[in-house]
Amino acid sequence: MGFYESILRPLAFRLDPETVHHLAFGLLERGLIRSQAFTDLRLEQTVLGIRFPNPFGLAAGFDKDARAINHWHKLGFGFFEVGTITQHAQPGNPKPRLFRLPADRALINRFGFNNEGAEAAAKRLAGSNSPLPFGVNLGKSKVTPLEKANDDYLASLALLKDFGSYVAINVSSPNTPGLRGLQDKAPLLDLLHAVRGALGSKPLLVKIAPDLEPSALTDIVDVVIQTGVDGVIATNTTLSRAGLKSPESLSQEQGGLSGAPVREKANDVIRQLRTELPTEKVIIGVGGVFNGDDVYEKIALGCHLVQVYTGWIYGGPSMVPTALRQLVARMNREGIYSLGELRGSALS
Ligand SMILES: Cc1cc2nc3c(=O)[nH]c(=O)nc-3n(C[C@H](O)[C@H](O)[C@H](O)COP(=O)(O)O)c2cc1C
Repeated sequence: MGFYESILRPLAFRLDPETVHHLAFGLLERGLIRSQAFTDLRLEQTVLGIRFPNPFGLAAGFDKDARAINHWHKLGFGFFEVGTITQHAQPGNPKPRLFRLPADRALINRFGFNNEGAEAAAKRLAGSNSPLPFGVNLGKSKVTPLEKANDDYLASLALLKDFGSYVAINVSSPNTPGLRGLQDKAPLLDLLHAVRGALGSKPLLVKIAPDLEPSALTDIVDVVIQTGVDGVIATNTTLSRAGLKSPESLSQEQGGLSGAPVREKANDVIRQLRTELPTEKVIIGVGGVFNGDDVYEKIALGCHLVQVYTGWIYGGPSMVPTALRQLVARMNREGIYSLGELRGSALS
């Protein structure tokens, strides 16, 4: 066990999780946290015309306001995603709204898209320059009624479309009432058609929930193909609480569950997507990644790129380079020489 797991994490886990989040973020913004990045030529790839130094990125929700975009490379990430950003600034739900479930290696959150809004994010992004590729993740403001959702996304898009390497449309947070309904075929067609039109040719992905029936996933595949969306981010947090070991007082907190309990659900979604989507459509796999084997597994199931949130909170600053080292070691053991060769190998 390293310094983080044996000393820092036990200390940090005694404090309120959102407080620790802000403390860690403050250190990061000041450039005070860093780890040894792990580089290997076999991890580099070009996806959707974007050059990625490695396939492992920070998932949306940690850098909601695009504050630390000059720092993520120092922790070994190959890319990151800022947001979710909404048209209007909003405070999110009342605290507490983030809970640790260590017995399940999981978190429950009901932040509810706390963020400073699209205009503030645009100002911040205009003044900074990331050495890594990054995505801009957009959601719907709480004050905007569901029937006006498209206008909210399009207003954010107008302010933010010139920043970052790709845009992610988030229709899968469980913490904005009704948002997941936008995953239904008719509203999703409408929304993604409008966004595709406004965005032009920049890479566009849609982020979906792990709680979709196979038939609903097939509908999403149809929509992706029809609207010319470039790929899918699978998945967001789950509403399921099946199989948890944590006491009910914790596991029954409202919100989205992330971490180890989401891994299989996300992998099931990825497996179906890879089987049904044309090969040129990109999948970013996310959910329950804690180590290099988990990254390996998602790429073997057909992902081009992989993201992490909860596993990084549990693993600490050296998590990403450690996982990448494990990924390359596993590829060596299995006689696999490129990410392209690994991708989808578990499906054939
Ligand atoms: C505290 C927290 C906040 C999150 N906020 C967002 C968000 O704002 N937008 C989003 O698309 N996903 C958000 N997510 C979901 C993650 O990006 C990711 O899809 C999910 O947690 C599964 O990955 P993990 O098991 O590695 O955490 C959040 C997750 C957590 C734990």
